[in-house]
Amino acid sequence: MTAPTSASQKLVTAPFRFTVNGQPVEAAVPGGRRLLDVLRLDLGLTGSKEGCGEGECGACSVLLDGEVVDSCLVPVCQVEGREVRTVEGLATGGRLDPLQAAIVEAGGVQCGICTPGMLMAGRAFLDSGNAGAAPTSAAPTDAAIREAIAGNLCRCTGYGRIVEAIRLAAEGRVSTMSAPDAMAVPLAGADRRLLDLGDPEAETPRTLAEAYALLADGGRRPLAGGTDALVERTAGVPGADRYLDLAALDALLGIRVLDGALILGAATTYAELRRDPLIAEHASVLAEMSAEVGAAQIQNRGTLGGNIATASPAGDSLPVLLALDAEIVVGGVRGERTLPAASFFPAYRRTALAADELILRIRIPLVPDRTVAFRKVGTRRAQAISVVVLAVAWRWQNGLWRDVRVALGSVAPTPIRARATEAALEGMPPTARVAAVAAATLAAEITPIDDVRSTAVYRRTVAGRILHRIVRDAAGW
Ligand SMILES: Cc1cc2nc3c(=O)[nH]c(=O)nc-3n(C[C@H](O)[C@H](O)[C@H](O)COP(=O)(O)OP(=O)(O)OC[C@H]3O[C@@H](n4cnc5c(N)ncnc54)[C@H](O)[C@@H]3O)c2cc1C
Ligand code: FES
Ligand code: FES
Repeated sequence: MTAPTSASQKLVTAPFRFTVNGQPVEAAVPGGRRLLDVLRLDLGLTGSKEGCGEGECGACSVLLDGEVVDSCLVPVCQVEGREVRTVEGLATGGRLDPLQAAIVEAGGVQCGICTPGMLMAGRAFLDSGNAGAAPTSAAPTDAAIREAIAGNLCRCTGYGRIVEAIRLAAEGRVSTMSAPDAMAVPLAGADRRLLDLGDPEAETPRTLAEAYALLADGGRRPLAGGTDALVERTAGVPGADRYLDLAALDALLGIRVLDGALILGAATTYAELRRDPLIAEHASVLAEMSAEVGAAQIQNRGTLGGNIATASPAGDSLPVLLALDAEIVVGGVRGERTLPAASFFPAYRRTALAADELILRIRIPLVPDRTVAFRKVGTRRAQAISVVVLAVAWRWQNGLWRDVRVALGSVAPTPIRARATEAALEGMPPTARVAAVAAATLAAEITPIDDVRSTAVYRRTVAGRILHRIVRDAAGW
């Protein structure tokens, strides 16, 4: 089979056209080139820094259509037609942005490596409407500011002064400061030499039929938010050198209720799950889970479909989907099929997806009166891979547990349902004795390993304790 090539198929290809700080630019580069490289190497905008290249440090943060993202994890094909704002675009009319002035006043800069990224994360927060605006709204809390910059590392000043600067800017308590001339950096001219970085090409199909045909043709790797795929590339993990960019497939978007189920497009991001009213109404546990994934930059880009396809035993959404009895709808040239989440993860980092199939959507049956509890234990508050992640779903019937689901991640080679533990709770009252039996059953049932993040013993102990606490909290004793 050959890939479609006719003009009617309208694949998005280079040159990619978008705006940077209000100026239109064209990038005639492979679509898999990182936005960070386009900014720094092709356009000469070196304000955004490369620290880790893996989404951990936030030094490369820029705004994409107003949302903060790590530019080291964004392929340029996904910037087509969009608006990029970098630190060079903050100062306008010869004046520093109030947040830049505030960070100077608060003494929030030492070596300056983290500063551009901090400014962009802070600016996104101030523009989000969640930061309050003096004098009418309450000032943002410390916790809200710290959450906004949780994806940005600073090894020098400590975070206190940076938090203070964001608060000063939110409250409008900043003097105006003129911007030094050097900050008005022009975009590089058209004669700038483009470097060959060996970037993958990318194709951006507009319809599922085009996507299926390209996938069936082979040699292409689907790409959603890129927060796993681009990290792997930076880390040198071998893979296809051609991306099948899913960003223009409307069929993968959207959250809706249909025929008694919540339907989530595979390209739904964690940020969308956090703010969507249907999620709040029908499956608020998904919003709770999403708030624990990475930090703002990852939540704005990472998708549910990407988490499922990566199939990491530590993937945070996977125990939740198992506990909710989710079904995963996949599609390809041979048509669509629906698979229960419980049989979607057959082995370590493997899925039931065929090489020529895409994850299209996730179907979650709506169950009246269902309660779902979610707990994630990581090594730190943000950007932490789970040490143990657990989701428990149940209904009460005459004071007894019914339809119990206990699902975990990071305790076995795949995300699992703990069936023996479910049986220990099913039909039982939520007493202290039942909680103890269930916790002991769980600790015995899981098969965790020692690794860099934790030990098997700790994981067994903590999984049992979390479950014990969930039973206790549910019963209120
Ligand atoms: C700093 C950092 C922090 C992170 N923190 C967390 C965390 O706390 N919890 C957590 O669970 N994960 C975390 N992750 C991992 C990652 O963000 C998630 O797994 C995310 O959901 C991946 O989604 P994506 O859209 O970015 O996937 P991509 O990187 O685009 O794709 C990942 C894989 O899925 C495939 N794929 C994507 N979409 C589809 C589809 N529709 N059909 C078929 N295949 C598809 C791709 O081919 C690729 O193999 C973190 C990553 C980083 C870099
Ligand atoms: S360089 Fe560290 S997050 Fe991009
Ligand atoms: S000022 Fe040096 S890393 Fe933050």
